[in-house]
Amino acid sequence: MSEAAARFLAEEIKRKPDIVLGLPTGATPLGMYRELVTAHREGGLSFSSVRIFNLDEYYPISPRHPQSYNRYMWDNFFGRVDIAKENVHIPSGEVPARDIIKYCESYEKDIFACGGLDITILGIGRDGHIGFNEPGSSLSSKTRLKTLTQETISDNGRCFASLSEVPKFAITMGISTILSSRVIMLLASGRNKAEALAKAIEGPVTCEVPASSLQLHKEVVIIADEEAANALKRKKYHKFVEKMWLKDVWPGMLYK
Ligand code: PGA
Repeated sequence: MSEAAARFLAEEIKRKPDIVLGLPTGATPLGMYRELVTAHREGGLSFSSVRIFNLDEYYPISPRHPQSYNRYMWDNFFGRVDIAKENVHIPSGEVPARDIIKYCESYEKDIFACGGLDITILGIGRDGHIGFNEPGSSLSSKTRLKTLTQETISDNGRCFASLSEVPKFAITMGISTILSSRVIMLLASGRNKAEALAKAIEGPVTCEVPASSLQLHKEVVIIADEEAANALKRKKYHKFVEKMWLKDVWPGMLYK
C-alpha cells in the first residue's frame, strides 16, 4: 500500500513540481512517507516546490507537543526531505478561541490562492471519518473546529500518556474542502478498517460515514491491503479492475 501510494505521488510530483498536496497523519501513511524519503535520498525526488496543506491538527495543542500533527509531519516527512518551510501549511492548534472562525476561513483562502488542492491523501477512521470529519459532519463542511468522538479520542489515546491528555477538538479541513481536491487517494490497511472501507465504497452516501462522500468525487484512488479490503462485497470485481488498470491504463490517465 505504502509503495503504491508513494510511487503514485512521486510520478505526480515529477509531472508537476509545484503540486499542491493535502496530507494526512496517523499510522496509515507512515510507510508512504518513509518511501517518499527514500525516493528523495536515493532517487533524487525533489519536494522543493511542492506545496502542502495538512488535513488537520489537534486543538488546543502546541506545535512542539510530541503528539501534535505538526511534530509528526516534521519528524516523519518534512524534516527528512528538501521541502521549503514557507510551502508548508498545517492548521495551528494555538489560535486563540475567539479567532478560530476567521483562522479557518483564511486556511480555506490560502488553499484557494495556491490554485486548489491537486491531490489529497486520506486515511480512514474505524468510524469512517476522513480528516477529523467525524460521523455527522456536514457533507458541505469547510475547514472548522470539530469536537472529537469518544471513539477517536480512545483510538488516538494510545499515543498520549493518558486519555485525559488527548485534546477534545481538532481543526480540520471539511468534507467539501477535501472533495474540492482534483484527485483524492484514500489509504487503508488492516482488518480494523475493513468495515469502514466497505461502508465507504459500497454503502449509501451518508454523513454517518464521512468517507462515503468520496462516492460523489470523480477521481478517487483507493489503495487498500487485503485485510482492509476483506469486507468488500465486490472485492473480486475491484481486483479485476485493478488488474486491468495496472495493465492498460495506470498511471497515464490519472490526474492531468
Ligand atoms: P490511522 O488513522 O491511520 O492512525 O489508523 C486514520 C484516521 O483516523 O484517519
